[in-house]
Amino acid sequence: MSAEHAGSRHLEIGVDGTSRDLLAADGLRLGLVDTADEAAFAAWTEAESRGFHSAAGTTEHVEQRRGYARVRRTTGVWDDSEANPLTPVATTQVWPAELTVPGHRSLPAWAISGVTVAPTHRRRGIARAVIEAELRTAAALDLPLAMLTVSESTIYGRFGFAPSAMACDLTVDTRRARWIGPVAGGRVQFVSPQQLRVGGHEIVERVRLATPGQIAYDGILWDRQLGLMVGDEEAKTLRCVRYDDESGMAQGFAIFRVKENAGDFTNHHLTLLHLVSATADAYAGLWRFLVQMDLVSTITAHLRPPDEPLRWMIADHRAVGVTEFDHLWTRILDVKAALEARTYATPGRIVVGVADPLGAAAGLHTEGAWVLEVDSTGSAVVTAVGEPVDVSMSINELSAIHLGGVSPLVLAQAGRVTGDATTLEAMFRSPVAPWLSIWF
Ligand SMILES: CC(C)(COP(=O)(O)OP(=O)(O)OC[C@H]1O[C@@H](n2cnc3c(N)ncnc32)[C@H](O)[C@@H]1OP(=O)(O)O)[C@@H](O)C(=O)NCCC(=O)NCCS
Repeated sequence: MSAEHAGSRHLEIGVDGTSRDLLAADGLRLGLVDTADEAAFAAWTEAESRGFHSAAGTTEHVEQRRGYARVRRTTGVWDDSEANPLTPVATTQVWPAELTVPGHRSLPAWAISGVTVAPTHRRRGIARAVIEAELRTAAALDLPLAMLTVSESTIYGRFGFAPSAMACDLTVDTRRARWIGPVAGGRVQFVSPQQLRVGGHEIVERVRLATPGQIAYDGILWDRQLGLMVGDEEAKTLRCVRYDDESGMAQGFAIFRVKENAGDFTNHHLTLLHLVSATADAYAGLWRFLVQMDLVSTITAHLRPPDEPLRWMIADHRAVGVTEFDHLWTRILDVKAALEARTYATPGRIVVGVADPLGAAAGLHTEGAWVLEVDSTGSAVVTAVGEPVDVSMSINELSAIHLGGVSPLVLAQAGRVTGDATTLEAMFRSPVAPWLSIWF
């Protein structure tokens, strides 16, 4: 089940009182947007677009977004003294979504998106009030973790978030990238975005639990990738291919565009927007198809996993340039629930000390000493204890290592974890590098 449809409690709970009062003292009003109200939602969308410096949507586009927004908690902050008082001066949109953790498991997480504050109202604490409100609301809803993808990596550390899943941008020189990988036995064929809409999503769901860091998504996040948003001019250049295995079952797809080089027809540029595969065969079949595309000399691929096998499937390792960056930021709100949700690589027992400036006052179950006991199956029981700790860190570092991709030993070297990082390293490491393949 998609977590975007996991009940409606998050739509019904009122705004956080602490932040409402704080903002009211500054002459501002924190409130929920009624997505059934066309004018209110249009004004909210206008504020969000303005906040990200993107073009305002047409009426049809806003109406399409309003349809998706029905399952999201949409919040604004209004300054009633403004010339256009209906347009909020701050926006955010949140919803619960399943987040994959190591061990083919997932936990319900609070996805935060659309955080903007108008440039006219910046740096007076509005974003802090809005984000802390969302964290307290998540805690009130018993959600063990909050997550976001960020415009700038300087903003969210102060709220206890840390990058826990990295992503890579690849540049492939196809002239050097002679294929030496397996030749898949299935078939690659062009399909329309509409054909991919149901079948492609079924593949996304099928592979979701294989990689920590992936989230359950549909609605706008899926339709946007398929170019199905009203007025998306760039969508006209999208191409979709599907890989079917030898038995005819769809096992993967790729969405890409090719930009012609008018000056040299042998130097076109292919941009890979999304490639999802449920089998090794589908992965090889789709990448081989892309790498061998006639007239294309360069492929750039955005948001690829840190452990991409492609480099081992081509003759020249250096045909692929890799730029790694932080992508998914997470913030544990409930240490017991978050740590018990995943499995661990080795059995053992360790007492972890956690500091959290936001902590108990915000209703978070994070601060203190926690004993993590992992049995021979990799499952954990976590209990608050009064014992001396073996290793200590702040909630940021615990959030960073939680998905198994950030090394506790590296954090210890950086001075951000003190104590027995070696045991943590052995327990927390995930055999599959965490990765999130979309922005939200
Ligand atoms: C980022 C943004 C939401 C911040 O809003 P804001 O109301 O100015 O932030 P606040 O005044 O509440 O700042 C809270 C703290 O974050 C800091 N901060 C805010 N924006 C920051 C940034 N871009 N980089 C570094 N620090 C930042 C503030 O200095 C303040 O620090 P302090 O509490 O230690 O003094 C706003 O500038 C914005 O809308 N930017 C463009 C859209 C965007 O990037 N949104 C984020 C999407 S992930």
